[in-house]
Amino acid sequence: MEFKRPKIALIGGGQIGGVLSQLCALRELGDVVMFDIVEDMPQGKQLDIAEASRVDGFDVELKGTNDYADIEGADICIVTAGLPRKPGMSRDDLLTTNSNIIKDVGENIKKYAPNSHVIVISNPLDAMVTLMQKTTGFAPEKVYGQAGVLDSSRFATFIAWELGVAVKDVNAMVLGGHGDTMVPLVRYANVNGVPVMEQLVRKYGDEAKAKEVMDAMVERTKKAGGEVVALLKKGSAFYSPASSAIQMAEAVLKDEKRVLPVCALLQGEFGVENYYVGVPVVLGKDGIEKIVELELNDEEQGMFDHSVNAVKGLIEDMGRLGFM
Ligand code: APR
Repeated sequence: MEFKRPKIALIGGGQIGGVLSQLCALRELGDVVMFDIVEDMPQGKQLDIAEASRVDGFDVELKGTNDYADIEGADICIVTAGLPRKPGMSRDDLLTTNSNIIKDVGENIKKYAPNSHVIVISNPLDAMVTLMQKTTGFAPEKVYGQAGVLDSSRFATFIAWELGVAVKDVNAMVLGGHGDTMVPLVRYANVNGVPVMEQLVRKYGDEAKAKEVMDAMVERTKKAGGEVVALLKKGSAFYSPASSAIQMAEAVLKDEKRVLPVCALLQGEFGVENYYVGVPVVLGKDGIEKIVELELNDEEQGMFDHSVNAVKGLIEDMGRLGFM
């Protein structure tokens, strides 16, 4: 039997790509190849991270490259390649630009890492994952997107701050598409099993006030990406998206069977046929091993359907632009 370290390919060595590589190294998840079209930059980042190996005590290989052949045999590819929206650029322009990039990335992954799993982070997320699956032709269980882990982490963080409890004791989940229509599941949010709403009512002694506080946390969660963008002035969130994707990669590489909200292809589950949407899944060595269905009440189902419709609109736009 041949033993080898897992090989992780990062496609895109920008802000998120850099943090991804450092986290892979710190956790010794495997050898990391970082690909980018910008000459020398991925080589420089990987050298920089590698030169901390003595200090941080990790032993993995880190390589930067501008040649797709170097991702050969990767077990997991994490894709952040793409351009951010620039002033004056329409939504369609951005969709066209990033779709062309994802097509190119997908074709190269198919060629050099045909047995890999692909985790997509590039935005607009739901559309880019759909295109990645179509381009690679990989089984849908092996092509999925990161959005829900981060959106849920944001929601949990706000709840923990509000209740003054450890964030690791907060369970909160966000479903749906990765955009303003995402659905933070208020009714299921809990602190070690105790419903968050119950605790808010206890804290404020008033149901209306508790609802007002929860509504504000839900709104902040939906707009959390924009809040970071507004503060950074340049670029978008990168630490938290990287951590979230690493949690997913780790679940796969260590066959953890984690139950995480992931952008997955629905084939009848939640009443949705053939669209990528954020739902809870079991994530293990085979990728999406199971989609975890749950009871939604009418209000939640309504919000979920609204979110699915937003994803459908995005996919229609991709079709109109000739990518579907
Ligand atoms: N192939 C490979 N890499 C590419 C390509 C391409 N065709 N085109 C651009 N890139 C690279 C850029 O050179 C850049 O280094 O993708 C990288 C993107 O990095 P950043 O611009 O720093 O963006 P980042 O903050 O990392 O976010 C990446 O994730 O969350 C999403 O909205 C975000 O779509 C964005 C993506």
